[in-house]
Amino acid sequence: KADAPLQGKRVIVTAGGTVERIDPVRYITNDSSGKMGYALAEAAQALGASVTLISGPTALPVPAGVERITVISAEDMLQEVMARYDTMDFVFKAAAVADYRPAQQRPQKMKKTGETLTIDLVKNPDILQTLGKIKKHQFLVGFAAETEKVDEYALDKLIRKNCDLLVANNVSLEGAGFGTDTNIVRVFDRDGLVEALPVMSKREVAEYIVRLAASRKQAAAIP
Ligand code: PMT
Repeated sequence: KADAPLQGKRVIVTAGGTVERIDPVRYITNDSSGKMGYALAEAAQALGASVTLISGPTALPVPAGVERITVISAEDMLQEVMARYDTMDFVFKAAAVADYRPAQQRPQKMKKTGETLTIDLVKNPDILQTLGKIKKHQFLVGFAAETEKVDEYALDKLIRKNCDLLVANNVSLEGAGFGTDTNIVRVFDRDGLVEALPVMSKREVAEYIVRLAASRKQAAAIP
């Protein structure tokens, strides 16, 4: 294909929210629909890549030509990503991973007792940070869902998690973030802001990000 900058490249995209069980009928999750991640998978596939989409539960159909692996929890997602990381060229981490999970998953439905209820939560592994620590040839693109101090928090995440690019969305803006078909993103690298995109469809945002990642990796001449 003429316009296939990712021909022969292997790509992981993570998408959707993770689900952290409390008991057999209850769980903690977030508002991620998976749309941003699925759009990235579709864009990368269309630009020639071999794409594995590691997705939390969503109602979205599998994009044509993409391998999808469905996971439930952050720990499942970490495992599926790690199992493939060595052979990957690019990772796009659009998933909204739960930062905490219930300390214990109860085998039976919890009974209603006192007037208040406290559920202890423990920290989940940070998948992106783990990937950043052991990164070799891979090009790592993180996301950041923020509601304030977008640039400051985004740049901090990029450095802390050792990403090559970080895509920040202010999820409190109309037309941006969770569930919508559009997004408004600010893209960062180590030197700061690369681009502030206007409101665009998630598919258009995805193509922009995938093309930028491809050209950056090529320019860096990482094998
Ligand atoms: O799915 P949609 O409805 O289309 O919504 C899209 C989106 C808002 C979910 C997406 O654009 C987005 O911003 N995804 C990242 C959401 C998020 O979890 O941001 P964060 O700032 O909490 O995390 C920063 C980065 O670290 C993310 O790349 C995240 O995948 C990663 N992370 C976070 C926590 C954790 N335990 N492990 C991780 O890998």
